[in-house]
Amino acid sequence: TELIGLDFNLSEEHEAVQQAARDFAQTELLPGVIERDNAQKFDPELLRKMGEMGFMGMMVPVEYGGGGMDTISYAIAVEEISKIDASASVIMSVNNSLVCYGLEKFGTEEQKQKYLPPLASGQMIGAFCLSEPEAGSDATSQQTLAEDCGDYYLLNGTKNWITNGNSSSVCLVIAQTNPEKRHKGINCLIVEKGLPGFSVGRKEDKMGIRASDTHSLMFSDVKVPKENRIGDDGFGFKFAMSTLNGGRIGIAAQALGIAAGAFEMALKYSQERKSFGKVIFEHQAIQFKLADMATRIEAARMLVYKAARLKDENKDYAKAAAMAKLYASDVAMWATTEAVQIHGGYGYVKEYHVERLMRDAKITQIYEGTSEIQKLVIARELLK
Ligand code: CAA
Ligand code: FAD
Repeated sequence: TELIGLDFNLSEEHEAVQQAARDFAQTELLPGVIERDNAQKFDPELLRKMGEMGFMGMMVPVEYGGGGMDTISYAIAVEEISKIDASASVIMSVNNSLVCYGLEKFGTEEQKQKYLPPLASGQMIGAFCLSEPEAGSDATSQQTLAEDCGDYYLLNGTKNWITNGNSSSVCLVIAQTNPEKRHKGINCLIVEKGLPGFSVGRKEDKMGIRASDTHSLMFSDVKVPKENRIGDDGFGFKFAMSTLNGGRIGIAAQALGIAAGAFEMALKYSQERKSFGKVIFEHQAIQFKLADMATRIEAARMLVYKAARLKDENKDYAKAAAMAKLYASDVAMWATTEAVQIHGGYGYVKEYHVERLMRDAKITQIYEGTSEIQKLVIARELLK
C-alpha cells in the first residue's frame, strides 16, 4: 500500500473552502434546484457566479487565472455543492478535472495561455468528448476520425453523451488518426464551437442530473489546426486515461456529496417526523439505517481524500481514484435509497429533495467509467 501522511484534520484553508462552498450551495443553488431539475435547464447566471467564486478552475495555477488549490480542496467543494445540486457539480467537475486539468498537465504554453484563464473564470465552459455511440466502456474503439492533412486535422464522426455539450465553447475531442496503431494512433484535439461542420445534437432527456446538458456532437469535415493537438502524435488515448484518473476523483466526490446530502436531510427529518408517539429517530430500525449511512459515507470520504492526497503528492493514484469512485457511487445509490425510505411517502415527492438525489446518484455508477470498468482498472493495478 502507498504510504501517505495520516492527518484526519482539515487545514484552515480546507475549512474555508468547505464553508464557502456550503454557503454558496445553500444561498444560491438550493432556491431553484427543483425548478431547474424540472425544466432541465441550468441558469447561466449561476454558472457566472460559480466562476466568480472560483469554483470553475480551482486547481488551475494562479498564473493562469485559477485558484491554485489542491485536489482535496476541490473534492471538498464538489462534495458540498453535490449535497444540494449534482447538476451544478457535474458541470464543475468536467470543467475542473477533465478540461482544465488535462490542459494544464499536458497542454503547450500557448494552449494554456489561450484557454485556461477563460475556462477557470467560467467565461468559457469546457467539454470532454471521449464516448461515442459504439464506444463507451470500450473506449479504444474510436470511430471518430482525425485525418492528418498536413497543417490541420480533418475531423469526422459523432460523440455521444457529452456533458456541457451545448453550453461549452471549447471541447477536448478524442479521435483516431492511425487506426492501424489502435489506441496508440489516437489524438486529442482542442475544438472550438463555431468551426464549420461542427454541430450539436438534441439534448438527452435524463433520469437525473437533469439540469446539466448532455448532447451528442457531430463533426463533418471540421478543419482543426495542428497546433490544437494536445501532446505528441498518438498521445490522445493516454491523455484521456490519465485525465480520467483525476476526473474519477471529482465524480467520487460528487457521489460522496449526493450521499452526504441525503443523509443530512434524513437525519434532520428523522428528528421531526413522529410515528407511534415518538420521533422516528427513536425507532431503532431508523437509527441503524442512519448509523450505517454515516459509517459508509465516512469510509467513502476517506477513499476520496486518499486519492486526492496521492494526486497532490504526485504519486500513482489510478487505483485509489477507481476505488473511491467505485465505493462512493455505490454508497450514493444505497444511501439515497435509504434516505427516501426514512422520509416515507414524503421522500417520494420532489419537494423533499431526496428523490432527486436518488435519481442523481445513479449516474455516478455509470459515467467516467462504469463500476464494472472501475473494477477492471483496480484488478489490473493489483497485478502491477
Ligand atoms: N491510467 C493510465 N493509463 C491507463 C489507464 C489508467 N487508468 N487505463 C488504461 N490505461 C492505458 C494502458 O496502460 C494502455 O496503455 P499502454 O498500451 O501504453 O500500456 C492503454 O491505456 C490501453 O489500455 P488497455 O490495454 O488496458 O485497454 P483496454 O481496451 O483493455 O481497457 C479501459 C481500457 C480501461 C477499459 C478504458 O477503455 C476505459 O477506461 N474505459 C472507460 C471509459 C471511460 O471512463 N469513459 C468516460 C468518458 S468521460 C465521462 O464520462 C465524463 C462524464 O460523464 C462527466
Ligand atoms: P457500455 O460500454 O455499452 O456498457 C454497457 C454495460 O456493459 C455496462 O454495465 C458496462 O459496465 C458493461 N460492460 C462493458 N464492458 C464490460 C467489460 N469489459 N466487463 C464488464 N462489464 C462491461 N462521455 C464522455 O466522453 N464525456 C462526457 O461528458 C460524458 N458525460 C455523460 C453524461 C451522462 C449523463 C451519461 C449517461 C454518460 C456520459 N458519458 C460521457 C458517457 C459515459 O462515460 C458512458 O456512458 C460510459 O462510459 C459507459 O459507456 P456505454 O454507455 O457505451 O455503456
